[in-house]
Amino acid sequence: MLVLGIETSCDETSAAIVEDGRKVLSNVIYSQIDIHHQFGGVVPEIASRKHVEKISYVVDMAFKQAGLTVDTIDGIAATYGPGLVGSLLVGLSFAKALSYAKKLPFVAVNHIEGHIYANFITYPQLTPPLIVLVVSGGHTNLIILKDFEEYEVVGKTRDDAAGEAFDKIARYLGLGYPGGPAIDKIAKLGDEDKYKYPIADVDGYNFSFSGLKSAVINHVHSLWQKKEEFKIEDVAASFQKTVVSILVEKTINLSLETNIKKIAVAGGVAANSRLRSEFYKKCAEHNIEFFVPEFKYCTDNAAMIASCGYFKLQKGIVSSYRENAVPYISLVSKKS
Ligand code: KG4
Ligand code: ZN
Repeated sequence: MLVLGIETSCDETSAAIVEDGRKVLSNVIYSQIDIHHQFGGVVPEIASRKHVEKISYVVDMAFKQAGLTVDTIDGIAATYGPGLVGSLLVGLSFAKALSYAKKLPFVAVNHIEGHIYANFITYPQLTPPLIVLVVSGGHTNLIILKDFEEYEVVGKTRDDAAGEAFDKIARYLGLGYPGGPAIDKIAKLGDEDKYKYPIADVDGYNFSFSGLKSAVINHVHSLWQKKEEFKIEDVAASFQKTVVSILVEKTINLSLETNIKKIAVAGGVAANSRLRSEFYKKCAEHNIEFFVPEFKYCTDNAAMIASCGYFKLQKGIVSSYRENAVPYISLVSKKS
């Protein structure tokens, strides 16, 4: 089954064609990062306008690179939320219109759920059950994926997402947008044990990063005020170590508690080198298998949406054309 995936939830216009949910035939991404970089973050109005400009071209390229035409595909999947409403609407409307014109089944995909499927692309043999940590700019979710289309969301952030903390701290330090890769890079030159930042005491498998974000920003502010010499590399490394330890500890605990000895991470923050190395280390200590998508499938892309769409369509799940863009929507547990 060939599925066209479309993703426009934030600042990437992306279209992909994926075969049987696992084999990527094309994955075209037009990134707007260079445009938003100058503003220090994503400007929603500019983002939606750029999606309108690029969507036809990006979908066209996805077909060209796959060597296919629209008449050869079996279904269309598009992100309907969460994300920026104007941006979501572009990809969603395009997908619905194409599906209607070509009489192809259409399925709307939750962006957070889509991120999980990056793992099924990178590891063609991987199957649930699986513990999944989705960490991106807008979301932090700890999930027990019991089967395809059957999962329990056991933890989420009470405030900021992990990636948001990276982005806001990086912005304060003058490192630009997006902050995650910038912090990851300079943290390699810093002493991660130089500063001790607070770890919020949050119930169960939930997270909270807002206090940590404020603590780091206030700390830097006071160092600047006192004109004390310090290295931002040390701040970045100490902050990153703290975030990583929180994420890894809760995920490992869930794996041990459920006795599901397979952990997968997904989302933009899954590209973080410190997060990856810590997971590899801790998983090896506990005899847990660790899975992480290739870098290009960690951040937003349409291949993961096409893959998720395939598993839905295969189960007979299709969406109505009434399905609208939903900017704020969390992932809720689902039973098959
Ligand atoms: O998944 P994504 O592309 O978009 C959302 O769904 O939010 O994730 C983007 C987030 C940003 O916060 C970005 O700073 C973060 O992922 N990110 C990273 C790294 N690469 C991207 N965070 C930490 N380390 C990285 N190497
Ligand atoms: Zn995302």
